[in-house]
Amino acid sequence: MSINIDLIKQSGKAVEDLGVQVAQHFYDTMFSHYPEVRKMFPGDMTQQRVRLFNSVIQIASNIDNTEMLVPYLKELGVGHIQYDTRPEHYPIVGKSLLLTLKHFLGPAWTAEMAESWIEAYNLAATVCIQAAAEAMAPGRYVPLILDDVPPATA
Ligand code: HEM
Repeated sequence: MSINIDLIKQSGKAVEDLGVQVAQHFYDTMFSHYPEVRKMFPGDMTQQRVRLFNSVIQIASNIDNTEMLVPYLKELGVGHIQYDTRPEHYPIVGKSLLLTLKHFLGPAWTAEMAESWIEAYNLAATVCIQAAAEAMAPGRYVPLILDDVPPATA
């Protein structure tokens, strides 16, 4: 399997042209297939839809620009710690995203397109998860020493 860069870019452009209804469909799909993740998100999804939509376009249009993409994905992964996102959530988002792309792309959703998106998503998720794990590594803890606390009175 490999990523066909042109296909990812083309589909990113198609998503951009379709507008934020793509994100609406994505969340509808995810929340109906995986209702357990609904509680992680706010009641009003208006802003989140736009953010997700822009993020997918950003990733797709920069799929061959690792200098931009890797730091972006690392930041995204670390940022998701505050939402309690776990590695096992990433396949849920990935499957919902791929179902959404298939829905909108229709005949353009070929086996090669599917393989490219699978590969691209797997890479993106891995970078996010790895960065979050590094941010939470126990080795980052700097143990307290006596100088960190006020001096004892007696
Ligand atoms: C590569 C996959 C993903 C992408 C591209 C993505 C994208 C985004 C973006 C752009 C935001 C807006 C805020 C921010 O930048 O931190 C966001 C927020 C959020 N994401 Fe993700 N995300 C991904 C994976 C996940 C997964 C696996 C989960 C867990 C189910 C998740 C749950 C959330 C939640 C709960 C928020 C905050 C919503 C809020 O409180 O407004 N995301 N995501």
